[in-house]
Amino acid sequence: MKEWTRAERYKKITDHPEEYFVALAEKVDASAFRQHYHIQPHTGLLNDPNGFIHFDGKWHLFYQWFPMGPVHGLKHWYHVTSTDLVHWQDEGIGLLPDTAYDSHGAYSGSGFVKDGQLHIMYTGNVRSKEWERTPNQIVARMQADGSFEKFLPPAIQGIPEGYTDHFRDPKVWKVEDTYYAILGAQRTDETGTAVVYESADALSWKLKGELDIQLPDFGYMWECPDLFEIDGQMVLLFSPQGLEPEGDHYQNIFQTGYVIGKDFQLDSLDLENDGFHELDAGFDFYATQTAESPDGRRILTAWMGLPEMAYPTDREGWAHCLTLPRELGIRNGRLIQRPVRELEELRTSKSIAEEGTLKGKIAFEREGRNSYEMKLTLDLSEQAPVTVNLCEDDDQENRFSITIDPTTKKITIDRSACGIPFGEEYGTARSLRLEEMDQVSLHIFVDTSSIEIFVNDGEGTFTSRIFPNEGEKNISLESPEKTTFNLEIWELG
Ligand code: FRU
Repeated sequence: MKEWTRAERYKKITDHPEEYFVALAEKVDASAFRQHYHIQPHTGLLNDPNGFIHFDGKWHLFYQWFPMGPVHGLKHWYHVTSTDLVHWQDEGIGLLPDTAYDSHGAYSGSGFVKDGQLHIMYTGNVRSKEWERTPNQIVARMQADGSFEKFLPPAIQGIPEGYTDHFRDPKVWKVEDTYYAILGAQRTDETGTAVVYESADALSWKLKGELDIQLPDFGYMWECPDLFEIDGQMVLLFSPQGLEPEGDHYQNIFQTGYVIGKDFQLDSLDLENDGFHELDAGFDFYATQTAESPDGRRILTAWMGLPEMAYPTDREGWAHCLTLPRELGIRNGRLIQRPVRELEELRTSKSIAEEGTLKGKIAFEREGRNSYEMKLTLDLSEQAPVTVNLCEDDDQENRFSITIDPTTKKITIDRSACGIPFGEEYGTARSLRLEEMDQVSLHIFVDTSSIEIFVNDGEGTFTSRIFPNEGEKNISLESPEKTTFNLEIWELG
């Protein structure tokens, strides 16, 4: 595959002078919040993961990308590849919005294999002079040099009767000889839904109908639907917009969650389920996409950010990153997420291994950067609350805290005293309630500007961006009563 130089990459985007991008890249490189082991844009804005697929011996992953600054501008797809889901190689621009059918953005879509070749289906966004939007669903085939040959006119042009211009994000899968695509849509009565198309050749598509998941009036638009099977059960994962906060739920501007169906009928598109469940309890998690690994695992990644929100790195010329890849599973009728086992390759050394009893506060001063993995198990049989502080400064004034309270069975994360504040209009704490809390395990990945917490081997997750100031990197544990703990930390390369 072609190696792209930074200059070539930028030249392809636009006729903007190269100096513009060199200056922008210098600004980004000077940012103190660049991640060490997450996928992030060289410049500008990243959003949804796209075209995620294992093909011909390696993983291909693309993401929504506006290169020229941290705003939702003209979207391209950026392309990275990996053999292990850990080390990612830059492949340069994947998809350019360079035709009359995607002139205002190559929006989200997915990857699939046809005739042994990698194909994608994505939404070409077009705006008229009056700014009226037409979405087109375009199929394209990857060439040897990594560029895409687009099959035009689009496979699905415009909007079918009954829907508005919010009609996008095709996710393709194949059953026997038939290709299916599920798209996020808005009905003309401004309610959200997902529609399914079918095709024999992945080029000419027929609208099959709406997926029936029995959730009436569930938001005004469903973005990024993804339908797949795990352990014989069908899962629809999607990002509905327009849900109101409800207790500890739906606290972010938009949500991502799922329904699980025991008995999915492709003919009727009927997916019986026991309701919608939020997938992540953190602050910054949206627009998931999954792919199947050669050994049959269902791997998920998501945008670690949200639309319509400002982030502290905006002023540094870049915004957002993707989550770590996670393996999905089903336990007790709910989706679980675990960091993929390949991530152990990131470990360089074990810096803390402590077993003991906690009463009061124990602090661990950390050398080096915020780039580590932590495993903590707590025996909570004494019913005492425990607080885990991360990114704490030497004066113990600033921190990101995780409080585990066996009396309420809630885990609460709080970023109100952590580094640069942002998104405070949506609150600074998030909670997750567990059924049982005699023992809790936390598996945490901290990078320069993010934290991903896996509770009880994936039963719950909290995914969040954080922007700690310099020196905010210590760890401490606190409890008013005796609590037995086991703590391990690995530095990550
Ligand atoms: C989700 C989304 C998708 C769309 C893309 C555009 O974040 O709004 O629905 O395809 O982003 O960047």
